[in-house]
Amino acid sequence: MRTVSLTSETDLTGWREAARGLLSAGVEPQAVRFRVGGQEGLFDLPSPTPPVSDKARPITVPRAFLDLAAEVALHRSDDRFDLLYRMLWRLQSERDLMKVASDRDVADAMERAKNVSRASHKMKAFVRFRQVEDDTGERWIAWFEPAHRVLEKTAPFFQRRFTTMRWTILTPDGTADWDGAALSFGPPATRDMAPQDDEIEEFWKTYYASTFNPARLKTKTMQGEMPKRYWANLPEASLIPELVARAEVREREMVAAPASLPNPKLIHAVAPVVERAVQDAQPPETLEALDRAVQGCRRCPLWRDATQGVCGRGPTRADLMIVGEQPGDQEDLAGEPFVGPAGQVLNAAMAEAEVDRSHAFVTNAVKHFKHEPRGKRRIHQTPNTSEVQACRWWLDAERAIVKPKLIVTLGATAAYGVLGRKVAVTKERGRPVALEDGSTVLLTVHPSYLLRIPDKAAAAAERARFVEDLNAARALM
Ligand code: URA
Repeated sequence: MRTVSLTSETDLTGWREAARGLLSAGVEPQAVRFRVGGQEGLFDLPSPTPPVSDKARPITVPRAFLDLAAEVALHRSDDRFDLLYRMLWRLQSERDLMKVASDRDVADAMERAKNVSRASHKMKAFVRFRQVEDDTGERWIAWFEPAHRVLEKTAPFFQRRFTTMRWTILTPDGTADWDGAALSFGPPATRDMAPQDDEIEEFWKTYYASTFNPARLKTKTMQGEMPKRYWANLPEASLIPELVARAEVREREMVAAPASLPNPKLIHAVAPVVERAVQDAQPPETLEALDRAVQGCRRCPLWRDATQGVCGRGPTRADLMIVGEQPGDQEDLAGEPFVGPAGQVLNAAMAEAEVDRSHAFVTNAVKHFKHEPRGKRRIHQTPNTSEVQACRWWLDAERAIVKPKLIVTLGATAAYGVLGRKVAVTKERGRPVALEDGSTVLLTVHPSYLLRIPDKAAAAAERARFVEDLNAARALM
C-alpha cells in the first residue's frame, strides 16, 4: 500500500499532481491512500509519488469531475482524496461515469459536495461579526466553526457583502482577513481569540424576536434550517428556548386577543369635530394646531380606516428631521411615529451613530395608516403616489414650522414626499441633495426593510450601511 502525503487538508493541487503520476504509473486505487501530512497510521510510510512519464498518455477528465473534486476536497471525511482518485481511475475507461448518478462513487461524491455547499451556505447565514476597536479604528471579528472546510471558498462572499468594513473571520481551520483592500488567509484560530459580545447582540435579539411567529413554530424545520451546532455563535439563539417554551401560550393569547381594529371611539371623537374647511385653510402655524387639524383631513381616503392621524414628534425647532413612510399598526394606535418594531431598529441605529432622537423631529410622509384587514391582523400597504402627494400638505407644514437644516428620508415613499419625484433610493442614498428652502436632504433605506431581509449576513451588512448613512447625517450637521 502506498501512502501519499498532501501538504494541507485542502491540497487539491498536490492531490492532482500525485494522482497524475500514479495514474500514468498504472497504480490502482486500492493500492494507494492519500493522507494529509503527519496523519499516517503506525505502519504506513509515505511513498514517493511516481513522476509523470513523458510518454504517458495525457489525462483528460470532464469539467464536471473537476468541479465536483474542488467541492469534495473541502469535505471533512478522511477518505475524500481516495474517493476522487478512484473516480479519476475509473473515468479513464468509463468516459460517461459522471452521468451515472446512481453509481456508488458518483452518488457518494455528489452527496459530499452537497454537504460542503450546505456548510458554505450556513456560514453565509450564521457568521456574526462583533465590533471591536483597535489602534487603527473599528474592526469586525467573527468566530465560526464550519461543518466542512469552506473558509476560503466562502470568504469572497463576505468580501463582496462587507467591502467597506474591515473584518476577520476566525475558524479552527484558518482565518480570513479583509483589510478593506485585500483578502488574506492565516493560521487556525481558537474561540477565545474572538470577542464574546457587543452591543450589536441586542439588535440581533430584537430582530429575531420580532420575526419569530409562535403560531408558525415547527421545531424540527427550525433546527434543520438553524442547526444547533451553530447556536453557540448566534446571539439570538439564547432566546430560542424561551420563545419555543412560550410559543403555545403566546399563540393562545394571539387567538384570544381582539383584533387591533381602528379605535372607533377615537375616530368618532376626533374626526367630526374638525371642520372640513381645514382642508383649504392656511397651513397651521404650530405643531399643536397641526396635530388637531390632521384629525379632520379628508385630502385622501386613508383617514377612513385609520384610528387617527399621526403627526411628527420632537422639538418645535430641530436641525434634523427624519421622515418615514406612514404610521404602522402600533403607531396608529399610539398616535406617535416610530414606536413599533421599525422604530426599535431606528432607535438602535441612531444610538449607534450617536444621533440623539430627542433632538430630532421624527415624522412620516403620510399621516394615516394604510392597511388591509387580514383575519384579525391589519396588514401594511404602501401608500400610492396620489396619497403621498395629498399628504405633502402636512409634511410641508411641519417643515415650515420645524425648519430643519437636514432631512433624512427613510425609504422611497419618504423620499418622494420630500423631493416630489420618484427616486431609486439604493442609487441615490448617502448623497446630500440641496433643497430650494436651503435645507439638505439625505436619502437612506427604511428600517423595516432591514427587518425583512431573510439572509442574516445580508441583513447585518445592510444595517451597517444604514448606520453609516446616519453617521453621514451626523457629520453633515
Ligand atoms: N414605519 C414608518 O415609516 N413610520 C412609522 O412611524 C412606523 C413605521
